[in-house]
Parts: sequence; structure tokens; C-alpha cells
Amino acid sequence: MNIQWYPGHMTKARRMMQENIKLIDIVIELLDARAPLSSRNPDIDSLANNKFRLVILNKSDLADDEVNENWKKYFNDKGINVVSINAKSGSGMKNITAVVQEACKEKIERDRKRGILNRPIRAMIVGIPNVGKSTFINSYAKKACTKVGNKPGVTKGKQWIKINKNIELLDTPGILWPKFEDDTVGKHLAFIGSINDEILQKVELTCELIDFMKMNYPGIINGRYGVDEDNSASDILSEIAKNRGCLMKGNELDYEKAAMIVLDEFRGGVLGRMSVERP
Ligand code: G4P
Repeated sequence: MNIQWYPGHMTKARRMMQENIKLIDIVIELLDARAPLSSRNPDIDSLANNKFRLVILNKSDLADDEVNENWKKYFNDKGINVVSINAKSGSGMKNITAVVQEACKEKIERDRKRGILNRPIRAMIVGIPNVGKSTFINSYAKKACTKVGNKPGVTKGKQWIKINKNIELLDTPGILWPKFEDDTVGKHLAFIGSINDEILQKVELTCELIDFMKMNYPGIINGRYGVDEDNSASDILSEIAKNRGCLMKGNELDYEKAAMIVLDEFRGGVLGRMSVERP
């Protein structure tokens, strides 16, 4: 299964980010806590060269708590500032300003020595589609100042948001990169909903997801759908289609509809907290 998605608006967005990087002190990378490696855009390293960095593991409420801790250690061990949050509830966000200031302390000190006081830190928020950038910014600014949408790629254009007298954020559209070298990257991004569903083979993808869950979180599929996990993924999907009444014209099973049920329930955390990647 080879998934690639790099529509034209992402090239444009990347250019916008490049043009604005000179204004920026720190790049805040939002990653999906369920798949921190696949949701990390390798292009950001060259873009953010010489900038302070902060990694935020968002949607930590949907990921395995123990694995979240392992990921935090993984990034810390690499000398990367990291926090895990749930942007939707605001959990973990209380200290973001302090964390950003800590990550930029060299800059603040440099400014102070030059007699520049209280110049706000300018942060660029980057992340793949659907990682929760708008939710994060809204929650951080505690008011609805950006549009939150449910389709990958909905945040368009350029937007500065003043959080407080210390921090200003530049929101950027969700972008991916031109080629996923490893097939699992595209697959994991598709699992978590960061690839446009319209280009996906949803039945095949869901069978892969079912196999992943059978292997890594045994009992989840059975607990939710009452199906025998010893069966193959396609048999399981067909059982789910029958149980959920997913039928097409002529009473044939609608596998695609059943696949969408499983994908949506996985993505929304209905099936429980699961991490797709471990350090
Ligand atoms: P984006 O700007 O990066 O594209 O993402 P956006 O904020 O639009 O968020 C995408 C979806 O992820 C939204 O769900 C949002 O509520 C959800 N989300 C964001 N952060 C978190 C989090 O930390 N935990 C959980 N559980 N969900 C999060 P949606 O289904 O599109 O909208 P809604 O029904 O939640 O309003």
C-alpha cells in the first residue's frame, strides 16, 4: 500500500513559510501523539535551521499514556523541548508560555543585553493537516480567532495571532512533504486522518488498521464490534458491515461504509486510546 498526497496548496504554503521564517524566533511543531514520527515533517528541519524549536505532542488523550511518556523521553534524550497536550480540553496547556520562554531563553537574554525589553517572542506553528493546529491556537488564545475545520487542509493563508504581550503566533496551513519514503508513513498518516480520505483505498486501509489493532491492542475489536479476532481482517470487516447494517442496493454488503465506521471510531478515540508508533 503506497500512499502519497502533496497537493499544490502545500507547495504554496511551504513557500509562504520560507518567506516568513526570518521573522520567527521559534518553530513550534505540533505532532500527533499517536504517530509522532510519521507526523513529523522532515522539511521543517531545513526550514527551521538555526531557530529555537519546540515539539508538542497533541491529541495525547487519544494515545496510549505509557507510550506518550516514552515519546517525551525520546525527544528529551535528543535535546528537543517537548510537551504533551490535549488541545481540545486544554489539558497540559497551562505552562506553554513558560515552556516557549524557556526554549527561547538565549534570545530573551540576548535582547536584554542589547537593552531590548519585552519584545514578544514570535512563534511559527507548523503541523500536518488535522493535527489540531486551529484547536491549539484557539485554546491557547482562549478565544475563537481561527477557523477550526474537520477536513485536512482547511487552514489557508497567513495569520498572526497575539497571545499575550510575550508571544505572537504565526499560523500556517497544514502541510506534508513531496514523498513519503517509507510506506508505513503514508499508512499511519491515513490511519490518523491526515490524508484526504478521498484518495484512499478505505477498505484496504481499514483491513491494515484492523490487523494493527489485533496485533497491538488485542480485545479492542472484539469488545467494540463483537467479532472473532481470530478471523482475517477482511472477514472481520464483513462481520462489522453485517452487524452495522451497511448495505448497498441489492442488499450487497457496503464494505466502504463499514470501513469508514471503523476509521472514524478509531480516529475519534471511540475504540480507546491507541498509539500507532512507539519509540
Ligand atoms: P488543523 O487545524 O491542524 O487542521 O486541525 P483542527 O484544529 O481543525 O483539528 C482537527 C480535529 O482534531 C478536530 O476534530 C479537533 O476537534 C480535533 N482535535 C484537535 N486537538 C485535539 C486533541 O488534543 N484531542 C482530541 N481528542 N481531538 C483533538 P473534528 O472532529 O474535526 O471537530 P470536532 O467535532 O472535535 O469539533
